[in-house]
Amino acid sequence: MEELYLGIETSCDDTSCAIYSPVRGVVVHRTAAQLDHEKYGGVVPEIASRSHMRTLLPLYDTVMEEGGVVLSSLAGIGVTNGPGLTGSLLVGLSFAKALAYGSGVPLAGIHHIEGHILANALEGPLELPALVLVVSGGHTQLIAMEAIGRYEIVGSTRDDAAGEAFDKIGKLLGLPFPGGPSIERAARGGNRSAFDFPRGLKYSGQCDFSFSGLKTAVRLKVESLPALTPDVVSDVSASAQEAIVDILLEKSLLAARVRGARTLYLAGGVAANGRLRELMQERLAATGVRVRWPRPEYCTDNAAMIACAAFHHITAGRVDGLELNSFARGGIVSWAA
Ligand code: KG4
Ligand code: ZN
Repeated sequence: MEELYLGIETSCDDTSCAIYSPVRGVVVHRTAAQLDHEKYGGVVPEIASRSHMRTLLPLYDTVMEEGGVVLSSLAGIGVTNGPGLTGSLLVGLSFAKALAYGSGVPLAGIHHIEGHILANALEGPLELPALVLVVSGGHTQLIAMEAIGRYEIVGSTRDDAAGEAFDKIGKLLGLPFPGGPSIERAARGGNRSAFDFPRGLKYSGQCDFSFSGLKTAVRLKVESLPALTPDVVSDVSASAQEAIVDILLEKSLLAARVRGARTLYLAGGVAANGRLRELMQERLAATGVRVRWPRPEYCTDNAAMIACAAFHHITAGRVDGLELNSFARGGIVSWAA
């Protein structure tokens, strides 16, 4: 019988379920975005967890029905157990535990960042060892991946994450939440060199990032401008996006050189950014480094990546019991020998 893995992801404001087959790839994937947060300009944790409670069970039913899958026939269940919003994580985790308890199907708790990294495995076999640039709303890291389950942090942000910078700048410009896609849209037709925004830690010689100075520089610039006309918003968006993408590129180039990497994977919501992909492709290819990324729906939060990660954990014999807990913070850890 075909081995199928169920993935559940509720770490932030997206409720997602998916079925993954190691042979066929993603069988079904459904993500329900929560739109209730838009009017608050950011994710409201209490609203997020209540919304997961309403959405998760019907979403699970849909995915199982569309995949033609019965619970007891699953080879494993993967669930994001951290990092993220505790209330949100607990909805997915409790649900996954109940499914595992009721059916006897093995359960694996998945680190959200490892899920983002393994989203690349949904596009084909990974070329390893590799370097991964994780750029999401909560994380910005360069990670050396020797094998699936073996990770070493090469650089991290010292303050804001790249996605957080997009979101905060989007808010300053009065653009809809989340800021990343809004800024990318507004930047089209804008002048990338209209404003010379700072590239944090550019000359540090290290692979760490800093985005809080950029956010402040954009705020000061916006406050000094007579009016936020659509043209000005376009120019600020294009210039700020360029500053973010440029420093992500510079640090990736540095890390690739230091580590002798041949392949760089992009992961996380910001990896959906077209300008980031374009510049990475152009500049890294010139140095002989291959750049790969997941399709946009697997860059942002999704359960397909969690189901795929569960396959790797469970087939390697790494499973969790019902004592599995959630965690709000904490870096990725290696689990494979
Ligand atoms: O990975 P993700 O869905 O959730 C977290 O784990 O945080 O990432 C969400 C982040 C948000 O900050 C959002 O603004 C950003 O990814 N993002 C983008 C784009 N699409 C999503 N940033 C830049 N360009 C995009 N196209
Ligand atoms: Zn994420």
